[in-house]
Amino acid sequence: MSVVYIENIADYEEKEVTLKGWLYNKRSSKKLHFLQFRDGTGIIQVIVSRDDTGEEMFAIAESLTQESSFIVTGIVKKDSRSKIGFEIHASSIESVQMIEYDADDPQKQGYPITPKEHGTAFLMENRHLWLRSRQQWAILRIRHSVIRAIRDFFDNRGFILFDTPILTPAACEGTSTLFEVDYYDKKAYLTQSGQLYAEAGAIAFGKVYCFGPTFRAEKSKTRRHLTEFWMVEPEVAYITLKEDMELAEQFVAYIVKYILETRTPELEILERDISKLQSATELPYPRVHYNDALKMIEEAGDKIEWDKLNWGDDFGSPHETYIAGQFDKPVFIHRFPVITKSFYMQPDPEDDKYSMSMDLLAPEGYGEIIGGSQRVHDHDLLMKRIKDHNLPLDSFQWYLDLRKYGSVPHAGFGLGVERFVTWICGIPHIRQTIPFPRMLDRIYP
Ligand code: 4AD
Ligand code: MG
Repeated sequence: MSVVYIENIADYEEKEVTLKGWLYNKRSSKKLHFLQFRDGTGIIQVIVSRDDTGEEMFAIAESLTQESSFIVTGIVKKDSRSKIGFEIHASSIESVQMIEYDADDPQKQGYPITPKEHGTAFLMENRHLWLRSRQQWAILRIRHSVIRAIRDFFDNRGFILFDTPILTPAACEGTSTLFEVDYYDKKAYLTQSGQLYAEAGAIAFGKVYCFGPTFRAEKSKTRRHLTEFWMVEPEVAYITLKEDMELAEQFVAYIVKYILETRTPELEILERDISKLQSATELPYPRVHYNDALKMIEEAGDKIEWDKLNWGDDFGSPHETYIAGQFDKPVFIHRFPVITKSFYMQPDPEDDKYSMSMDLLAPEGYGEIIGGSQRVHDHDLLMKRIKDHNLPLDSFQWYLDLRKYGSVPHAGFGLGVERFVTWICGIPHIRQTIPFPRMLDRIYP
């Protein structure tokens, strides 16, 4: 008899198998228990019949409470009514740990997350348990596949994985969101982005990507911001903004296609409207100059409640939602004013008020999923920028070196994994896209 996982159950029709897992839910009649049994790879119905298993086993099934762990052996039977197509007719049940329930005993209140509706605050406080629920399970399996597709995309194109440090001596994306740590007798910061180091990698290896956790001490609570999030950042020597955008759109289309091909059951659990994702597999994506985006917002006037924008302002989330809403695919906004963006961005050779930068906005109001740019490759201009931004020149000597020794135009971008997964899953808040989210008001569990 084989010990198997639910995800492979189709290979065992009419065979006797053993499954190890937990009780997800239960329905009972006098002679039958219908157990919704989960093993981490899926959920299957186990039928326990008094006639088949005898009194003793039937009593164990009777007493099983939600999330109690047990091992079941039985025959795999076709069941066309269920999604998975099979069910188990139990011959034996062995309890591993029974969660006790006694309505009168405060110590024995059973599993805290019952099938009834719970508030988000409660669920977040019990995130370590909430992970077992079907929707969370679906989201995190999609996350897994997004990460796999990210790595496949770059690995198949000859990019070298280039790990960048988490402890850094200086800011990359502005000084207002730095997490400071004591580094012996010096100050260090948790990295906001691996980009600056990836630039060294691009010159050494031609094309690289870094992929790791990044940190930003975001001061506000939003649906789109975490304080710890995972970012993948490709960096390529000898490309400009144009090729950077082409790489970004091919990348996004590749991941979306991979998810549509491999994660339909999970998208169904989330009731995701797949037609809305399909269009993102078709290239190219529209490209809108910053000025034209600003014009679109001006023309929309006060139809929408948002802050009025002046030239040089960055877009807020209502503006991004409006612009993205004018298209049925992700859309690039490119050439933000130099004053709007980070110190390292190359000015546009046609008009140096603008930078060779881009944001990619997801459809349906999910906001910016990618930020990228061509980098300043001239030594003196970069040094001036570092000084103008009041950044500590000492910490950037190595970065300036890259402009002294064989400097070339180069570009890259960063994609935030959790933003991306939020969009793919079509869920309202970013906090469900990582096992243990870190936010302004949350560091537990
Ligand atoms: O636009 P950002 O700040 O760009 C960079 O960090 C560049 N150094 C990337 C590069 O060119 N190599 O961040 C990139 C992406 C955003 O588009 C967004 O998807 C995500 O990172 N992101 C966040 N995700 C979750 N929570 C936050 N607080 C985020 N901040 C940025
Ligand atoms: Mg950005």
